[in-house]
Amino acid sequence: MKKVTVELGERSYPIEIGTNMCFSDSFADRIGKITGNESVLIVTDSFVKPSAEKLAALLKRKVAVKGIHVFPEGEQSKNFATVERICRKAAKLHLDRKSFFLAVGGGVTGDLTGFAAAIYMRGARFIQIPTSLLAMADSSVGGKTAADLPEGINLIGAFLQPQAVFIDPAFLDTIKSFNISLGFAEILKIAATFDADFFGLLEKNAFTLSGRKDPALFEEVLQRACRLKADVVAKDEKESSLRAMLNFGHTFGHALEKLDGFDRMYHGFGVSCGMYMACRLAEELGLQEHRDTVRLANALYKYNLPVYFPARFGAKDVYKAMLSDKKAAGGKLKFILPCGIGKGKIVEGIPKETVLAAMEKARSGYEKILP
Ligand SMILES: NC(=O)c1ccc[n+]([C@@H]2O[C@H](COP(=O)([O-])OP(=O)(O)OC[C@H]3O[C@@H](n4cnc5c(N)ncnc54)[C@H](O)[C@@H]3O)[C@@H](O)[C@H]2O)c1
Ligand SMILES: [Zn+2]
Repeated sequence: MKKVTVELGERSYPIEIGTNMCFSDSFADRIGKITGNESVLIVTDSFVKPSAEKLAALLKRKVAVKGIHVFPEGEQSKNFATVERICRKAAKLHLDRKSFFLAVGGGVTGDLTGFAAAIYMRGARFIQIPTSLLAMADSSVGGKTAADLPEGINLIGAFLQPQAVFIDPAFLDTIKSFNISLGFAEILKIAATFDADFFGLLEKNAFTLSGRKDPALFEEVLQRACRLKADVVAKDEKESSLRAMLNFGHTFGHALEKLDGFDRMYHGFGVSCGMYMACRLAEELGLQEHRDTVRLANALYKYNLPVYFPARFGAKDVYKAMLSDKKAAGGKLKFILPCGIGKGKIVEGIPKETVLAAMEKARSGYEKILP
């Protein structure tokens, strides 16, 4: 079993990583130690339900599991109505402030469950058991919870750190393969931004990792991704500066998602194209050499991620969509730009023409290197 601690003083918590950990006999004891005699509500989505039910049956021996709330899978469920249903289920089951909400699912489940826990009786507790790669490597760590509004994604939410995160890659056995690529978009993002050595490992082992052929290596990758994120969160929990670096590729990516409709363009695919666009912008500003852009593009390609700025989007439309994003504070665009692999910086005040020129360059321009 591998472990990472998110250091936040009294609110510090462990992230434990182990293949088949969640279905071992000792897991009910581990959760029982955290929850004691308090009530637990499991929250999951319709795709993850079979795994969550299996887990519930195992936990019941040592944990006061009062019920399971299942919502229809997908980003379209990530709204206030689902949060309300989770809270009402908790109320019907007589959960109180000391009770636990246990999220078993992808990023949507984790964000919704955390949000419900944050507002139920002004704040209950929650535990994350992420089941998608994106949730394992990124969204289950750091305490951001959210739901979407028709006006935009993640517009409502709260900060609530979980009590613990348990990552079992065995859950991925039932997931669609493109979801593995979506998770690697975020893993490549954090490595490209903070850790050149980690990026090298991902680059070198793309075939083994995307096929989950080496469980120990896969766990190491999850541990390294979580450790990087945990360090950032420990230094800047509420995103006043450093945490914004985790948005590499996201300024462009969110705009692509918005223009395409969030049910059509998956977040990881938007971020992947967005990272390449950010690389081309960094080149325009003299921050990065083209060979580093090619390195990142090749790594994305090896994990079956899209690279080029898709032809169906107009650069001016993307620019407009970026300006309407919630992160464009005061109408100012903020870009996280790479300065070579493993380094990045936040840049504001880039002339519109420079951004548009970089976007056009991102429509082509790297030499594919096959795995
Ligand atoms: N809180 C954060 O810091 C943070 C960070 C990044 C992303 N997010 C959020 O995370 C969400 C994206 O996460 P996601 O890609 O995990 O979305 P998701 O929860 O919708 O999961 C993707 C799909 O995989 C399915 N799935 C998950 N685990 C499975 C399993 N083990 N077996 C079979 N199917 C499974 C889900 O049912 C869904 O269809 C977005 O809403 C995004 O805003 C949050
Ligand atoms: Zn992301």
